[in-house]
Amino acid sequence: MFRHVKQYQYHAKPEKADPIFAKQMQELIGGQWGEMSVMIGYLFQGWNCRGPAKYKDMLMDTATEEIGHVEMLATMVARLLETSPVEAEEAANGASDGGIVASVLGGGDTQSAIINAAMNPQHAVVSGMGATPRDSMGNPWNTGYIVASGNLLADMRFNVTAESQGRLQVARLYQLTEDPGVRDMFSFLLARDTMHQNQWLAAIEELEADGLEDTPVPSNFPQEREMSGVAYQFMNFSEGEESAEGRWANGPSKDGKGKFEYVASPEALAPEFGELSEVDPRLYGTPKQPKSPASS
Ligand SMILES: [Fe+2]
Repeated sequence: MFRHVKQYQYHAKPEKADPIFAKQMQELIGGQWGEMSVMIGYLFQGWNCRGPAKYKDMLMDTATEEIGHVEMLATMVARLLETSPVEAEEAANGASDGGIVASVLGGGDTQSAIINAAMNPQHAVVSGMGATPRDSMGNPWNTGYIVASGNLLADMRFNVTAESQGRLQVARLYQLTEDPGVRDMFSFLLARDTMHQNQWLAAIEELEADGLEDTPVPSNFPQEREMSGVAYQFMNFSEGEESAEGRWANGPSKDGKGKFEYVASPEALAPEFGELSEVDPRLYGTPKQPKSPASS
């Protein structure tokens, strides 16, 4: 059961309207690494979790927090699209001849025309000056942005990536605005992303310490069924051997079960190239031989 509380987790008030920045901020709502992705991702990871209760509870805590982050961002976007009372009054008095969208933005002058051209047209035409579940280019959010596999280690490694990319994008947008209200909210979101990166890293450690999962994922697949000879080889498939200098090419493997080995000139393990046989002629693929006239 979910219950809505009529409060924000943190302030979501810009100092002034900025419809162009509202468009850019859509990336943090419905972009691949936006808050909708972590919200839906963590919800499904939590709902699907069959592991110990502490993991499920933790997933549901953070998933629910992320609903609040989407709420804050959606509110911020809506407020960035708001009109000041003076501008609205001017528009109502006929000071503007640029139609409703131009009116909302403060008139039909050159400045408004520039803003009109640069803002997200869907904010005016589709959502009536509200946020949309889309990215900054108008692409709809989609479920391909999330994972919820039932394997907590596999998922939590993805979560570290999601929080890293998310924090990166907030940091970039921080540099694109000077609005103190927006920056204030971003300072909160950046800090929560710091916690969440740390949280998933701690959870990964805990899954391993609890003996529930390990590298390589999935650790309960019998490793003797994989080809052990190539399991810890770094293969050099490009010119130059600078890659031999890395940790990935030397020393014990990260899972402690092997030793990294650098293969400078990897051989083809299946030298014969072979040929594909022809498919059913009713699929009309290109045949190996020209068709005989009789068969046409
Ligand atoms: Fe978040």
